[in-house]
Amino acid sequence: MQETTREQNQRLALVTGATGAIGKAIARAIAQQPGYRVVLLCRNPQKADTAVGDIIASSGNQRVSQEIVDVSSKRSIEALAQRLRDPVHVLVNNAAITPRRRQETSAGIELQFATNVLGYFWLTRALTEQLRSGSPARVVNVASYWAGDLDLDDLEFKRRPYNNNTAYRQSKQANRMLTIALAQRLSKDGVTVNACHPGDVSSRLSNNLGFGGHESPHDGARTPAWLATDAVGQRETGKYFEQMQVRRCRFGEDSEKVEALYQACLAY
Ligand SMILES: NC(=O)c1ccc[n+]([C@@H]2O[C@H](COP(=O)([O-])OP(=O)(O)OC[C@H]3O[C@@H](n4cnc5c(N)ncnc54)[C@H](OP(=O)(O)O)[C@@H]3O)[C@@H](O)[C@H]2O)c1
Repeated sequence: MQETTREQNQRLALVTGATGAIGKAIARAIAQQPGYRVVLLCRNPQKADTAVGDIIASSGNQRVSQEIVDVSSKRSIEALAQRLRDPVHVLVNNAAITPRRRQETSAGIELQFATNVLGYFWLTRALTEQLRSGSPARVVNVASYWAGDLDLDDLEFKRRPYNNNTAYRQSKQANRMLTIALAQRLSKDGVTVNACHPGDVSSRLSNNLGFGGHESPHDGARTPAWLATDAVGQRETGKYFEQMQVRRCRFGEDSEKVEALYQACLAY
């Protein structure tokens, strides 16, 4: 009975890309807070097991586990949403890539757009019922200040020459715009959606873009982990944060463009 009550009082947090530099640090920071069960959403079972073991050892929280999902695949995300029926209180969309060459998923979608943009969008939508039943619940979209050049007529670099930096900046602009569109739609359900820049951290993702990164993963995870666990993440919605402060987001100011991007993503 006591065990049941303890489980009922636990908040369930999901973190994508938790085998990577910042995602693992976000998952650890949440696991270190009292009352959280954390599920790492990863594509590689071996790496996921290692990350689970590391986070349990360093946080002392035994309630850390993993589920396998490829966030670049709508089918894989929908299968995850079928398996994972518990109320969800926190979803951190963080998994992203910066491949140097243009690649496509097996469904024929440009890989960076599928992973960084549609992955966040599909997962949030696929888990809406679970977030609703976890309400008050929140979604944290790990975006970036390194954002811009979104071309609504060429989201997949079919017309423009592919460049991983431009494709990345576009994807992070899209994360920030879709945060607003999703926040508007989910507010009636008691689900908030906010975006943030984490920190500048050396990782496969940043190294592929030619960046080193001067912050530790722990420091880089501070703002997303704070939005995931602090009251601010439930009080605010549709906002963009840097260094634990709300910042003006110029990408959210053109509501027609935000809506057009939302509709474009719905078509996938
Ligand atoms: N690093 C920075 O300086 C910086 C700055 C601003 C914003 N950000 C943002 O922070 C977030 C994390 O970046 P990071 O630097 O920590 O990157 P990272 O170390 O390269 O980690 C990326 C993570 O995403 C996972 N992933 C990639 N494709 C996936 C897929 N199809 N399905 C499931 N998981 C997938 C990777 O899994 P595997 O381990 O299996 O490859 C890995 O866990 C990103 O959203 C990025 O845009 C980073």
